[in-house]
Order: sequence, then structure tokens, then C-alpha cells
Amino acid sequence: MKEVLENTLLETSSEKWKNTPIDYNLVKQKIAESKLPSVGKASIREIRSLINAIEKASGKKFIRMEMGVPGLPASEIGINAEIEALKSGIANHYPEIEGIPELKKEISRFVKFFIGINVQERFCIPCTGSTSGSFITFLTLTRANKNKDTVLFLDPGFPVHKMQLKVLGINQTSIDVYEFRGEKLKNILEEKLKAGNISCLLYSNPNNPSWICFTEDELKIIGELCAKYDVIPIEDLAYFNMDFRKDYSIPGKEPYQPSVSNYCKDYIILISSSKIFSYAGQRIGCIVISDSLFGRDYPDLLRYYSSSGFGHTIIYGSAYSVSAGVTHSSQYAYAALLKAANEGKLDFIKTVKVYGKRAKLMKKMFTENGFRIVYDHDVDSLIADGFYFTVAYSNYSGEKLLEELLYYGISAISLSNTGSLRKEGIRACVSLVKDSQLPELEERLRIFNLNNQ
Ligand SMILES: Cc1ncc(COP(=O)(O)O)c(C=O)c1O
Repeated sequence: MKEVLENTLLETSSEKWKNTPIDYNLVKQKIAESKLPSVGKASIREIRSLINAIEKASGKKFIRMEMGVPGLPASEIGINAEIEALKSGIANHYPEIEGIPELKKEISRFVKFFIGINVQERFCIPCTGSTSGSFITFLTLTRANKNKDTVLFLDPGFPVHKMQLKVLGINQTSIDVYEFRGEKLKNILEEKLKAGNISCLLYSNPNNPSWICFTEDELKIIGELCAKYDVIPIEDLAYFNMDFRKDYSIPGKEPYQPSVSNYCKDYIILISSSKIFSYAGQRIGCIVISDSLFGRDYPDLLRYYSSSGFGHTIIYGSAYSVSAGVTHSSQYAYAALLKAANEGKLDFIKTVKVYGKRAKLMKKMFTENGFRIVYDHDVDSLIADGFYFTVAYSNYSGEKLLEELLYYGISAISLSNTGSLRKEGIRACVSLVKDSQLPELEERLRIFNLNNQ
């Protein structure tokens, strides 16, 4: 600590630290107290607790862009359905592991109306947030064929998925797709898949953190190559329909959310309630398993489970082991939300469009103050405005930039946590930034830019 304070005094005397919006010594002290080996490499939750400590000690609010938390109130439809379900006495029963019938029915209708695909109700199962959906899916798929023990990420991606594989002791590999958009995706992907060790691949679409959105052509490449090499695509639709450039809002009417399910018969889709219904706190989402995959037989599963049937195993082997069912009341909430969306009574896209509008304003503030957008293109158009964007500044590494911005009361995460090869960037999430904070953000960015001239 003595050493840190001595360094601090030295650095405080330099011009650069004279007018940082948050007191330089205090930030430095809180960083030291956090005992993080590197702030830039810290996980989202670690950054969050560091910022909480700085905010408390300084009495100043940060522009919080580190965590992808919905910034809107949870949908009333869900809350009311959940209260009603609790009052009816469901809290003392274990829910069936495969999910309540009302929910299974609405998930199946939802994918029909918003993706345009047919999946039987039986093959739609709830999970405690899509995070548990990916855990259950990784666990099962990587045990299905003893020669296929590796998960491929189409990166950049959600750091928690990478952590899940580490925790499970499962191998992972990745392609940063930025340089390989459109037709270019084909060769690099085929190169990876033909090695024969890839069990499944995962990507989010729209993508966290870059907000790139795969086109139909790219999804076709992914689907066809997965079919060719018997690799299961896991399509993570945490930001379902949130490519605001298109109008996906009308149930049963094209255009639909683009999906790999149109290009192969074995696939898994993960859908979250957290962002589209602002229902993150109740931890509810779903796993949609294609009819073909659900019915497949994998004798290698018998090494770990009592059945070789994929569908049976993922429900009564993996999902059962992880949580023995999904919170009963949340299932009623999710069923009510999906039902309202399916019937055209809840335009969930209209509600979350506010994120796109805010991103547009924030990106302008960053770029006018010397920053540049890292993932700036979506094939041949500019990147869309959505829940996240990525920025870099001068020749700062992402890790250094993240740390520097703490002195200016701005928090984010480094792209190096996301599987990105763009080590210079950080990810900014717009959801928690209040419109009333935007002038403050602009001012802090202006000072940052000035101090770094
Ligand atoms: C790409 C992606 N997948 C999954 C999740 C987790 O979703 P859930 O809250 O349903 O667990 C997130 C949350 O930020 C995400 O960004």
C-alpha cells in the first residue's frame, strides 16, 4: 500500500491527473484495496464491485457501462402472472423438470411466430436464465461423442460462456469473426470443423459485445457446415429481434429473426427473458431443441447418463442435475409474457428500442472525443445501434483504457475478456446509462480527451 501511495503522489503531480472527475488518489487506493491482479482483466462482477466501492467513497456516480443489465422496469404482465401463480399455492410443489405445459406451448408458438420454425412443445424446455441453458447444453453435447470434446465460439462473445467451459473442464477454441464476414467465414469455419473434434459451436446474434448481426448468407454457411461435419450449432438469442434496423415485431409475419434453424436440422436455440422482457432478476429462459436432435441416439452418453437418447438425457440427466426444475412462479411469468407477445398484445421490441436510440447518441459522444468504434462494420454496412458497442482510444490497450476511464467515472469491460482479437478495445453497454447522465458523459469524455492530447 505504501508503494502505491508513493507512486500516486508522483503521478498526481503530473499535469494529466489534475482534473480527473473522480479523485485520482481515491481511485488508486480502491484499486489497490480490490486486490485485483489486473483491473483490465477483471470479470464483469469484479469490476462492478470495484466501481461500487469507488462510488461509495467518492460520493460520485459513475457512467456505468460494465454490465449488461436491463435498464427498464420488468414487464407488468410477468409480475402479475407470477403473483397470481404464487397465491394459487404453487410455491410448495417441485415443478416438472421439463417445464409447465403452459410455458412449453407458448415457447413453441413463439419460435413459430417470430422465427418461422416448427418445434414441438415437448422439445421446448425452460432453464434458469439462458446462462443455465448454455451450461446444460455444453454439459450434454460434449459428452455425446467421445471424439468431439471441444466447443467452438464464433467470437467475440459473452465471457460467462468461456468461464462455464473452464469450470466444466471442457476444451474451447474460437474464431474472431470480424475479419471473416460474409463468404470469408466459410473457409475458416470449415478449417476448424474438419479437424473432427468440435462438438458444438456457439454464437450470439445480435452479438454481445460487438452488435454484429449475422446475415442469412452467413447463417446458411454455418448451418450447412455444421450439418456436413455433424457439429451442433447453439444459437444464443439473448437479444432476440433486437436488430432494430428491421421490423421483426409482428407475430406470424415476415421478416423473422434470422436463424441457423433454417439451414440445418440439428440445432439448439437459447432464448432469454432478461433483455427482451427486462426480466433478468427472475432467471428464466428456454432451450429449444430441434425435433431431429431431440430424437438422436448417442451411445457415448451412457458413459455419464442412464440413457443414450439426447432429449431424455438433456432433461432428466443434465437439467435435473443442475437445478431439479426451474422456479415455478417464473415459468408462469414467462408463459404469460410469451403469450402476450404471440398474440400481438405485447410489442416487446418497441419497448427496448430505447437502447438503440441511446447507443446512437453515446457513440457520437465517444467518436467526437477521439475514440473510434472497434467493430464498426456489419458486412458492408455500418454497425447497428443496440445494447452494446465497442470503442478504442489512441494506442491504449483495452485493459489500460478501462483502467484509465475509472478516473473519469466511466466503467466498461475490456474486449480481451470476450475472445476478441482486438486487444485495443472495450465494450460499452448502454442499458444502465440514464438519459439524464448523457451531458455528464460528454463532459467526462471531453476532459479525458483533453488530458490525453
Ligand atoms: C450473449 C448472452 N447470452 C446469454 C446471456 C445471459 O442471459 P440470461 O440472463 O438469460 O442468463 C447474456 C447476458 O448478458 C448474453 O449477453
